[in-house]
Amino acid sequence: MTVIPSAEGAVDRRTLLRLAGLSAGAGLVAAATLPGEAHAAAGVFQHGVASGDPLPGGILLWTRVTPTADSVPGSGAGPDVTVTWQIAADAGFSSVVQSGEVRTGPARDHTVKVDVAGLRPATTYWFRFGYEGAWSPVGRTMTAPSADAAISRLRMGVVSCASWEAGYFSAYRHLAERGDLNLVVHLGDYIYEYGTGEFGARGVVVRPTKPEHETVSLADYRIRHALHKTDPDLQALHASVPWIITWDDHEVANDMWSDGAENHTPATEGDFGARKAASRQAYAEWMPVRLGADGHIYRRLRYGNLVELSMLDLRTYRSKQVSGIDGGDIDDPARTIAGGDQLEWLTDGLVGSTAKWKLVGNPVMISRLDLATLPAWLLGPLGDLLGIPDNGVIVNPDQWDGYNADRERLVDALRAAHTRDVVFITGDIHTSWANELTTKDTGTRNPAAAEFVVPSVTSDNIDDYLGTSPGGPLSVLAADLIKATNQHVKWVETDGHGYGVLEVTTDRCRMDWYHLVDRTKKDTAARWVTGWSVGTGSSKIRKESAPR
Ligand SMILES: [Fe+2]
Repeated sequence: MTVIPSAEGAVDRRTLLRLAGLSAGAGLVAAATLPGEAHAAAGVFQHGVASGDPLPGGILLWTRVTPTADSVPGSGAGPDVTVTWQIAADAGFSSVVQSGEVRTGPARDHTVKVDVAGLRPATTYWFRFGYEGAWSPVGRTMTAPSADAAISRLRMGVVSCASWEAGYFSAYRHLAERGDLNLVVHLGDYIYEYGTGEFGARGVVVRPTKPEHETVSLADYRIRHALHKTDPDLQALHASVPWIITWDDHEVANDMWSDGAENHTPATEGDFGARKAASRQAYAEWMPVRLGADGHIYRRLRYGNLVELSMLDLRTYRSKQVSGIDGGDIDDPARTIAGGDQLEWLTDGLVGSTAKWKLVGNPVMISRLDLATLPAWLLGPLGDLLGIPDNGVIVNPDQWDGYNADRERLVDALRAAHTRDVVFITGDIHTSWANELTTKDTGTRNPAAAEFVVPSVTSDNIDDYLGTSPGGPLSVLAADLIKATNQHVKWVETDGHGYGVLEVTTDRCRMDWYHLVDRTKKDTAARWVTGWSVGTGSSKIRKESAPR
């Protein structure tokens, strides 16, 4: 059995940060030992480097070049240029295994994506980009093992919901500093579309966003993405491991559905289709993701015989959310969250998979959340957090709860095929959960899957909406009430911001939750909160007693 190589032993943290062009507290600098450092320091590569979507012999590499002073993101200005790239077997680039040239320019906002093939499986590589004598910071990445390789362990960071104005991306820094991850899974809300002041920390702008207004145009989304790529913690994590990402609603607009969004007003913001296309273009340019020919993002990646990861898109094909005003029935079989094609692809993929563990990168929670008996003091802030309309709807219509038919089709198919070892890893809800996936018909017996939900990197959650201290008596009571009403929810914590670390081994899949001390402080610490795991052959989850 093989353990996929990790950064442990391969490179220490200080070296990694230096290679990534970062040093603790020093921000972006050129890699000290590399040629072209003076030019790089002047800002040819201001937005870091990234890699994504590992394949057994391939990896996607990303950067952005600023060849002239006027080539700023979103400007449409600047020349077409040729950028070189190198991928090497060593951090010092004495053993370059592939290199090449790629053209970029204002038509793609001077972003660069290179899909490298012909590499060795399960291998660590280092990569960099060059332009007229300047070298980018160095990134470290890793290919996936061959599809039939016997793999005994895979470890990944899991994140979602990073509002720039609500704090610093310390969650990304702590993940980068671990040095033991094979990859990072981002479940969406990598950016938010809001204008300044609209989604800070309890209304306080910790750091102002760009552009200041809500993002609507292509230039707006490019500028917002570019701002995020200047964050040193985000750059460090992108430069240290490959990411596997999907989008949720805020990459376009709040509570998006296939043909609109809660936060889109056609009368003042124009055609939604044009806004969606603009945001998706900027996303494709700025994110290290391999999109399908028609731009679709749902896809499946495999790590040997151990893991198959199905990344979902729960925005592009979904029916409009139900509401007391516009109507709609959460049980209507004609309504869909995934779209027919994607649901069939997901179901067939899970049922037919030959991998030990079937993970689902699931942007919104799939476990039921019955809110009907919660008291008004909790339903109010929970409703604000979840966007529940106060007009008689008592589930969160934006998560799978609002699309019962799709969920039941999926769960019924898993049960009919006796498919085991399915784990949903979920974001969106800004709070931390360990759930068993059940349906109303079966109650809490025989769950079909486990679901582990990670908190927000920074975005507001329950104590922020309640206006109380984190972990206070009302939050404890809130968690107890939610669990009492929803017995498949084994653990919920409503106040922490941070990240998850998922470790998959041949006999269990374990999530550990880490929360930040204070998201509004740049160098805040993270602490372990709890761990939950599921063993093979059963979807019953159990609490772990100590950090791993
Ligand atoms: Fe979010």
